[in-house]
Amino acid sequence: MNSFYLDNAATSHPKPEAVYRAVDAALRSGGSAGRGSHQQGIVADREVFATRELLAQLFGVSSSERFVFTANATQALNLALFGLLNGGDRVVTTSMEHNAVTRPLRALQDRGVEIVKVAANPHTGVVATADIQAACLATPTRLLVINHASNVFGSLQPLDDLGSWCRQQGIVLLVDGSQTAGLLPINLNELAIDLFAAPGHKGLLGPQGTGFLYVHEGIELRPLIYGGTGANSHSAQQPEMLPERFESGTFNIPGLAGLSAALRFLLETGVAQIHAREIQLVQLLINGLAQIHQVQLYGPPADQPRGSAVSFTIKGMDTATAGYLLDQRGIAVRTGLHCSPDSHRSCGTFPAGTIRVSPGFFTTAAQINYFLEQVDSLKTAF
Ligand SMILES: Cc1ncc(COP(=O)(O)O)c(C=O)c1O
Repeated sequence: MNSFYLDNAATSHPKPEAVYRAVDAALRSGGSAGRGSHQQGIVADREVFATRELLAQLFGVSSSERFVFTANATQALNLALFGLLNGGDRVVTTSMEHNAVTRPLRALQDRGVEIVKVAANPHTGVVATADIQAACLATPTRLLVINHASNVFGSLQPLDDLGSWCRQQGIVLLVDGSQTAGLLPINLNELAIDLFAAPGHKGLLGPQGTGFLYVHEGIELRPLIYGGTGANSHSAQQPEMLPERFESGTFNIPGLAGLSAALRFLLETGVAQIHAREIQLVQLLINGLAQIHQVQLYGPPADQPRGSAVSFTIKGMDTATAGYLLDQRGIAVRTGLHCSPDSHRSCGTFPAGTIRVSPGFFTTAAQINYFLEQVDSLKTAF
């Protein structure tokens, strides 16, 4: 068991105590949402409803039925992409996407969807708004899909005016919020985001096996999965209504109960406070790494708006060896390509990849300092 977990960009750990308790209680209580009018079924129903309402509150949306539960962000992104696109459609995306976006897009390309990738600045990993807009306007575009913050370099993409611009142009905007949900204040209404995919298990601090897709009113998607929803069982047709249309099959009630507890924790603590705290840790981390002679840092500098993932390499040591040596010293980081080869190609770290360190809500400054000492001491391992 690692004592210092610095891999929160993969999944956050630990979770707030209330999350463990809620998962345990839901599993013991039993019952399946929408599947029975007995008391256990009603408790499960309420749990699902409460979790949706909390998501709506956190993301500034009034209608919670627009939040569709999925098992992770990948499923949410697949639902958005395969549910929306048809052969002949044109999609603009960036060179900073995770495989959860690039692989579905690659598969859609084989079905006649045109994909255009806008290149990022190789030093910061940030894509310029003007470049995105120019790519979108070159030929009629159906969808813009963009990662909010890079899971490799922490690069934050400029979403501020993109949503309203996309609406003016009639372009659907899909945002992969995997690295910002729960970590940055996000108001989906103010940002005019049409589709927003996120995991429940990273910054939202919920259990693995949870995620969601937000679908703005007026956006029509085909379901990817058909089946029982607990309502309108007489009909052979998949319901039209949200969220049932996209939620066939038994819910992950323990997972959603845990997510619900995590969302309450986030709302009580305040996402802005969480962000401010994490940025302090990230600054400590980046400034500390910059002092270590053999370290090469990538991505936005400490004083620019950014997410929490920090990538670096150590001269003369491959990333897997560095990861192994740190693990031996009780520090969990991730090494390699982080499921995002395009990001590494964009920033010159392909194919070797990087060492990625990602603090989380429960990380302390003392842990970051210990981490920095250990990276410095790797010199002796050369
Ligand atoms: C930017 C980004 N997109 C998508 C995903 C996929 O998330 P999940 O593992 O919840 O499917 C991740 C996970 O690492 C990610 O960082």
